[in-house]
Amino acid sequence: MTVLKVGIIGCGRISPFHGVPAASQENTKVVACCDLVEDRAKEKAALFGCERTYTDYQKMIKAEKLDVVHICLPHYLHPPVAIAAMKAGCHVLTEKPMSIALADAEEMVATAKATGKTLGVIFQNRYNAGSVLIKNVLQHGGLGRILAVKAILTWYRAPEYYTKSDWKGTWDKEGGGVIIDQAIHTFDLVRYFVNDQIDYVDCHIANREHPMIEVEDVVDGVIAFKNGVKAAIWANNYYSHDDQVEIHMSCENGTIKMVAEEARVTYYDGREFIAKPNPSESFDYGGGPSYWGASHVKQIDQFYEALANGEEPEINGEIAIGTQRMVCAMYESGKTGKRIFL
Ligand SMILES: NC(=O)c1ccc[n+]([C@@H]2O[C@H](COP(=O)([O-])OP(=O)(O)OC[C@H]3O[C@@H](n4cnc5c(N)ncnc54)[C@H](O)[C@@H]3O)[C@@H](O)[C@H]2O)c1
Repeated sequence: MTVLKVGIIGCGRISPFHGVPAASQENTKVVACCDLVEDRAKEKAALFGCERTYTDYQKMIKAEKLDVVHICLPHYLHPPVAIAAMKAGCHVLTEKPMSIALADAEEMVATAKATGKTLGVIFQNRYNAGSVLIKNVLQHGGLGRILAVKAILTWYRAPEYYTKSDWKGTWDKEGGGVIIDQAIHTFDLVRYFVNDQIDYVDCHIANREHPMIEVEDVVDGVIAFKNGVKAAIWANNYYSHDDQVEIHMSCENGTIKMVAEEARVTYYDGREFIAKPNPSESFDYGGGPSYWGASHVKQIDQFYEALANGEEPEINGEIAIGTQRMVCAMYESGKTGKRIFL
């Protein structure tokens, strides 16, 4: 069995959600970690069971002859690091979002094609129990056409969340606020469930309660799909706490309600299906807030299974770029006040 040599780039808050599952694969060894802050890399190296740390990711890739890197960096670094890593011979699994600008995400996809390397993008909530049930009933469950969708995210990001970070809350390094960072998962699920091309987006964005940052803390609007489905969306970061995300769908033959990781499908003939997280599938990442969910390990398992079988992972660059295109259009709409056709 070939053992893949894995490196983790960026050893901040999300990195245990990559390093711990990557280290638990049958056919991998996490051999090194990289962070500009050496102590952070050392602390995570101990957690992932690897000996060596670096502050320069290019040196790490070369010295360790890595096969795979996980990118857990601020948003503006995803494209240059992913592209450099693929060109240096690595498969890449990057955190969301792919990029800030759409052109950079396109270059990532083109580089994956040109180098023959695999590019995976994290959207772990597609693997939640509720998401799996919803996708399944929409494909095979006889619910009929989707008539309407609404998606609501009301979370809280305290001032310190931004003031303690050197990249959050900025247009150039985070690329936006609640849309590109928190609600991107919810909007990705809407796109995944409706499963059609987006016709246009029409959004309003504002910063109402975070004067310490330049980006939006609220968005409302519509994502209109070519099949006629219109998703009403609302997300903000200034609620009192991280409430459960909700997606509701009205279909010809029933309704779907997703609340956090759970889903309830109710048919008008009285049948009902409920999906909840299976406790036996819980995974210890060593901490992290509950709103990140528990599904990173499922997507990371799938990524390595695909690599072992010489297949594309379920969420590769070509799939994920649809969500990047949607997010970029939402910003264009929010900034210009115009309806943006995709
Ligand atoms: N999927 C999810 O649910 C989820 C949840 C949280 C964060 N994220 C994503 O994970 C990524 C990282 O977020 P985070 O909260 O861990 O951020 P963070 O700020 O905690 O960590 C980023 C780390 O990158 C390091 N870094 C910056 N520049 C570097 C460079 N050039 N080389 C090496 N290291 C460098 C920083 O020192 C820091 O330790 C973001 O894309 C974020 O959106 C995803």
